[in-house]
Amino acid sequence: MTTLRDQLTLTRRHVLAGTAAVGAAVVAGTSLTTSTSSDVPTVLAQDASPAAGEDGFVEPMQYASEDGQLSVTLQAMADETATIARMGYNGMTPGPTLRMRPGDTVRVALVNALPEMTNIHVHGLHVSPSGNSDNIFLHIEPGQTFNYEYAIPADHPPGIYWYHPHPHGHTALQVLNGLAGAIIVEGGLDDLPQLTGLRERLMLIQGPLQGQDRSALHLVNGQERPTVTIQPGETQRWRIANMSANQFYNLQLVGHQFHCIATDGNPLPERETMDLLLLGPGERAEVLVQGGAAGIYELRSLAWAPDIPSQTQEQVSLVTVVSGGDPVEPMELPTTLIPIRDLGDANLDGRREITFQESSTGPAFNIDGKAFVMDRVDQVVKLDTIEEWTIRNESPEWHPFHIHVNDYQVMSINGSPVTPRWEDTTLIPPHGEFVMRTHFKDFTGRFVYHCHILSHEDAGMMATIEVVE
Ligand code: C2O
Ligand code: CU
Ligand code: CU
Repeated sequence: MTTLRDQLTLTRRHVLAGTAAVGAAVVAGTSLTTSTSSDVPTVLAQDASPAAGEDGFVEPMQYASEDGQLSVTLQAMADETATIARMGYNGMTPGPTLRMRPGDTVRVALVNALPEMTNIHVHGLHVSPSGNSDNIFLHIEPGQTFNYEYAIPADHPPGIYWYHPHPHGHTALQVLNGLAGAIIVEGGLDDLPQLTGLRERLMLIQGPLQGQDRSALHLVNGQERPTVTIQPGETQRWRIANMSANQFYNLQLVGHQFHCIATDGNPLPERETMDLLLLGPGERAEVLVQGGAAGIYELRSLAWAPDIPSQTQEQVSLVTVVSGGDPVEPMELPTTLIPIRDLGDANLDGRREITFQESSTGPAFNIDGKAFVMDRVDQVVKLDTIEEWTIRNESPEWHPFHIHVNDYQVMSINGSPVTPRWEDTTLIPPHGEFVMRTHFKDFTGRFVYHCHILSHEDAGMMATIEVVE
């Protein structure tokens, strides 16, 4: 079995071997000469520097749709001389944030300037998995450009999503080296009167990225331990994403609580207040934070899974939060947010059981005893049916379950009912299970479900589903 460390070493060599060509092209400013068939305006890295707020907190630069259209070029590139991440989109880690609205048409020209194949996946978006939409079975070879086009449904849930490469066998290393960016679908909570006017922060967590000095870095918006300022009593809205390949972030803001208002791209029906916010790889949340008494506080990820040696993580400091300036009267936090569809009473068209397994005799990381095979169809589902899936974890490790295209309602975890919520990525506890309900509403086609620990996914913990008429 290849360990992640082995794979990393392999890829480092792989990346180095391809660096001369890629590096030269970038330096000469002719990096897009391979882009032949693209009718999409080209955005070069030089146009795009990240924006820093007045307190110096850096957020990725944004491309926002206009008149229902968003067209961008994302060039996946490698740079072995980079100090922070070895790969980025348009030279940036994270890549640019794509902002859109329900009903928009979004075009992404992906230019592959990497020395290996890649592709792009829009994690959590409810769009077609076929053709040149969210089709992760496509492989874009080095030097090629591919034009993706996504029709965002008019009733698409507003919230935070993300994009990242998904070429089987290469996903973990490309994400681990920095290829990822945020997607924001506007509306929903943005329009809730109690939330309008709040200062918003986007916090995209990546790590451990290997810097030039080979130390492992945990970064927020590409920065090591940036500073965020807040006034005592001020309420801010933070959108937080775990864009790491394999890392869990068990977040704590010392002296503060998180008032959670959305999970993945879905608003909660009611605010949930918590001391710790656990985000597995691929998960996102939106929280309200109210500035405490003037002082300096640490946003950190607590030590994780001390009793599971293969998943143990040390405590790590992510952001320095400075509460200062004029105190303001804390606003009353909303309790009720946005009503959600509850499938609790739905008529079920079927039930399935899915089991995540690790094996010393069969495929090391598998689902239902089988390692991923691209051309095999593992589940066939009829369009416009509602099903209940029980997703089990027979292994002693954590696995974040994720499915493309259709979000689902989490019904229970280890048998305990949870307050209704919709997610696209959910942690299955070691030797545990969760139950979800989902509606294969409006897209036929073939897509995948998998563990979002990307080294597990690359090792075979992924399967395919086809929705048919
Ligand atoms: Cu975020 Cu199939 O992945
Ligand atoms: Cu996904
Ligand atoms: Cu896993």
